[in-house]
Amino acid sequence: MARESTTPPARSSRSGAADIFVLPGDGIGPEVTGEARRVLESVGELYDRRFEFSSDLIGGCSIDTHGVAVRTETIRRAKRSTAVLFGAVGGPKWDDPAAPTRPEDGLLAIRKGLGLFANLRPVRVYGPLAEASPLKSKELSAVDFIVVRELTGGLYFGKPKRVWQTAKGQRAVDTNAYSEQEIDRVLRTGFELARGRKQKLASVDKANVLATGRLWRQVATRVAADYPDVKVEHVLVDTCAMRLVLRPQDFDVIVTENTFGDILTDEAAVIGGSMGMLPSASLGAGTLGLYEPIHGSAPDIAGKGIANPLAAILSAALLLRYSLKLESEAAAVEDAVDAVIDEGLRTPDIAGGGPAVKTEEMTNAVIDALRTSRRARARA
Ligand code: IPM
Ligand code: MG
Repeated sequence: MARESTTPPARSSRSGAADIFVLPGDGIGPEVTGEARRVLESVGELYDRRFEFSSDLIGGCSIDTHGVAVRTETIRRAKRSTAVLFGAVGGPKWDDPAAPTRPEDGLLAIRKGLGLFANLRPVRVYGPLAEASPLKSKELSAVDFIVVRELTGGLYFGKPKRVWQTAKGQRAVDTNAYSEQEIDRVLRTGFELARGRKQKLASVDKANVLATGRLWRQVATRVAADYPDVKVEHVLVDTCAMRLVLRPQDFDVIVTENTFGDILTDEAAVIGGSMGMLPSASLGAGTLGLYEPIHGSAPDIAGKGIANPLAAILSAALLLRYSLKLESEAAAVEDAVDAVIDEGLRTPDIAGGGPAVKTEEMTNAVIDALRTSRRARARA
């Protein structure tokens, strides 16, 4: 993507197969990554591509087994892979605020360890699912934007970060810190994406209050000069939150810092009716990426076989596109998802109380659609 033409070809293992490292995590993570893997296996079969899979623990299950949310060797293993397919971490079992380590620490450590500074979260409203949206507008199916969230800086990683005891009770501090370089590179990722889309970019900050926001806007203004073909606007984060609900169809590419991106993408996720539909890609400077559904571990439905696998499957499509550079395979998976939605298949989260299929059936339908389109293309 960002530097598409200059990036080296996708990395692969010695056997020539793409080396896909799966980190299923907790809750519904293992179920949905299992389904995404089945889809990738079908892609391999149908398009004659070799994928090798291996997996490891991360999050709460890693805390239970190893005492840490992610082991250093797991991060090292991830760095050597072609791409990482990630499920979700966390759950009530590990929610004690006094616990020395939390499942989420594993995710943050792997993002930082792999240098994945840009988190892409595409938001689309599937026409037949527009009814599931809490928003009612004729123009909803025109919603098609992508949020580029800075992922390795800001409040999440700034130091000092701690809770301590004072004479008057406890205090806590988090630090929001950004360097010019960190802002520059993630904005460029956004501008490059905008070039391949509708040439519109909203740079989101809080320049009226925060020093980091003012630096953000200054850098955005400078970077924009390198992209005269892209129409830029600077939007305050609170205004952006409002406009996402009022006129989501007006956005194309939104670029913002870590915490704002976390919050805005949960808001954006429900515009389409369910978080169960939204994939994400976390990218750095090379082709290595981490691909993750944005819905989280959903402990309330874990193990029931009813989770929506489509966000994980669409994340696998992004993996094919950005790390493996297999654009037609990526598009085939996305088209297969469109096809099953058009056919009317619904997991409970998008069924609006109507008839629903289970996780496995949904995946089977995606695989069938992939087969059908492959056969049709072979005949053509
Ligand atoms: C996300 C999640 C994570 C985040 C959590 C699980 C640490 O909410 O990917 O948006 O805050 O980045
Ligand atoms: Mg979040």
